[in-house]
Formats: sequence, structure tokens, C-alpha cells
Amino acid sequence: MKPKPLKIDNLKIDTPLILAPMCDVSRAPYRLLCKEFGAGLAYSEMLEAGKFKMDRKQFDDFIEEERPVGAQIVGNNADNIKSLVESIQDKVDIIDFNAGCSKRRYIARKWGGWFSGHPEELGKILSKTRDFVNLPLTVKVRLGMNRKEPEIFRILELCEDIGIDAIAIHARFVAHNYLDKADWNLLKKIKDVANIPVIANGDIFSAKDAVRAFQETGCDAVMIGRGAMGNPFVFSDAKLAIAGKDYPKEHSLEERLSAFSRFLSYYKKYSQKQNFAEIKAQATWFTVGAPGTRKLRVDIQKAKNEDELMHILKLGS
Ligand SMILES: Cc1cc2nc3c(=O)[nH]c(=O)nc-3n(C[C@H](O)[C@H](O)[C@H](O)COP(=O)(O)O)c2cc1C
Repeated sequence: MKPKPLKIDNLKIDTPLILAPMCDVSRAPYRLLCKEFGAGLAYSEMLEAGKFKMDRKQFDDFIEEERPVGAQIVGNNADNIKSLVESIQDKVDIIDFNAGCSKRRYIARKWGGWFSGHPEELGKILSKTRDFVNLPLTVKVRLGMNRKEPEIFRILELCEDIGIDAIAIHARFVAHNYLDKADWNLLKKIKDVANIPVIANGDIFSAKDAVRAFQETGCDAVMIGRGAMGNPFVFSDAKLAIAGKDYPKEHSLEERLSAFSRFLSYYKKYSQKQNFAEIKAQATWFTVGAPGTRKLRVDIQKAKNEDELMHILKLGS
């Protein structure tokens, strides 16, 4: 089983493995690291249309080395979306519209996941957005608001009519948040009728899962979220696995800390935040998966500054 390169409009993505948009995670340093480990594409965390221009500092800028890269936008006001797109369009290769975020404050504002339950409204904002986005335009959705109303087939139809270039589907309903398993059976049914590339998302945590997701859903690409947190190896492993090659079944603590070191150097170079709590969170995630490291994670939490953290991790600063 060798998935083909992904084509999103005129953009060819050689490896159909995608880093999901994740707040505070899919920022420039981590996107770059995942790309280097084998992700064919990475999406930014969601950028709020309206807020972005006023508060640019809270987001990392896009960097040349990480391209191709997608910028995810969340909002419901076409003028705000347009000005955000105009401010970033030279630095990114894809614009993605977030129609899947289940955070209550977004749903209350009729943003994000609200659109997964309101296909006609989604169609309206996507039509307007399509008019001014000259880059490939993708949409990330859930299956609908709740299982009784699976709006996804209507959403797909609208996306195709409007000229959306690919659809990424987090295979859960908004109301279920993360409570149930992602519904890959439904993903397969969607893929079977789709005329645009379908990106499968939900519960892909390992190379084995990625292979299974391609096999079971027939989707054109897989998007990995939680399974990629502190674990860029999921991309290097999955890249080998989908090419039918052997891949390492585990990664040592040394390997993980070396990847963390590389992340930290990118963080220092590219992050707008420079926030020690964030560095500690990343250090913690990078050690998960290495056996016998629970105590190490407790110690990481105790570190008060970077020198202490480096000492705990036995890394030269
Ligand atoms: C920490 C975190 C932040 C997230 N932020 C976003 C976001 O900014 N935009 C978005 O569309 N989805 C966001 N998501 C959802 C993921 O992109 C993804 O759809 C979801 O986690 C399911 O994929 P997974 O099972 O591979 O984690 C976030 C998820 C997590 C865990």
C-alpha cells in the first residue's frame, strides 16, 4: 500500500502525512521540526480573523524553510478573514477554514465547529472566502453537530460546488468532543462519494494507525494531532510505513531528547512567545513514550528556569 502524493489544487505534497492545526502546538518551531521529520504539510494553529491584525505578536510568523505550509483561519466575518488572508498570503501555500473547533466560546460566537452543524451558513462564508483567496483553499470540519444530524455529506457537496480544494474531516461530532472513537467507517463512505481530496483526521497515534487509516478509509492523506505532540517520530515512522518499509518500533530517551533539543533551538529562533512554561510542556511531551520516564517528567515540572531544565535533561544549554 503506497498512498500517492497529495494534490491540493496545483500544489503537490509528496508525503500525504499532515500535522494538524493545534493551538500552542502547531507553531512555527514545531511545524518546521515535523516537516523535517517527514510531514508533507503542516497547518498552523488557528489564527483568529479580527484579532490577528491587532495582536500579531501572539502568533509566530511563517518561515520560508517550513513551506509548503497551511494557515488555518477561524472566524465568521468575511472582511476580517480577507484582511488576515492579505497579511499572510505571501508566506503560506494553503488557506484553511476552521469549521470544526468545538470550544464553547467559538460555538457561542458561531465560529469554528458551529459551521459543522450549519452547512448552508458554512457555504455562504466559504463562497465569500473563495472569492478573495487565490491560494488553494481547504476546510477542516467535523461530521456534524451530533450523531442525529450528520451534515457532512451536505457539507461535502457545498464544498465541491464552491471550489474548495480539499476537505479535512475530524471524524467526530462537535457534541462528542473527544468522548467517542473517531468514525473511520463514515470517513470511508464520504471518501467513496467525494470528488475532492479527503484528509482523514482523528485517532491516528502511530505509524501503524496511519497505515490502517489509509487502508480502511481510502482517504488521500492523514492528519495527525495529539499523536504528534512531542512526537515528530510519528511522521518519520509513518513515512517509512506507508512506503512499505520497516520502521523503528520505539525511540529511545536519547533520541527523544535530541529531537527536543532541535525543537528548542527552533523555538529560540522563531517563537514570538519565549515562554518557559511552554518549553517545559514541550519537554514533558517529548519524553512521553520513552519507558521509565515518569520521574523525569515530575522533575521537569520542578524546573524553575532553562538552566535547571537542561540540567535535569542532561542537555548542554
Ligand atoms: C492541543 C490541541 C489544540 C488544537 N487546536 C486546534 C486548532 O487550532 N484548529 C483546529 O482545527 N483543530 C484543533 N485541534 C483539533 C486537532 O486539529 C484534531 O482535529 C483533533 O485533535 C483530532 O485529531 P487527533 O485524534 O489526531 O488528535 C486541537 C487539538 C488539540 C489536542
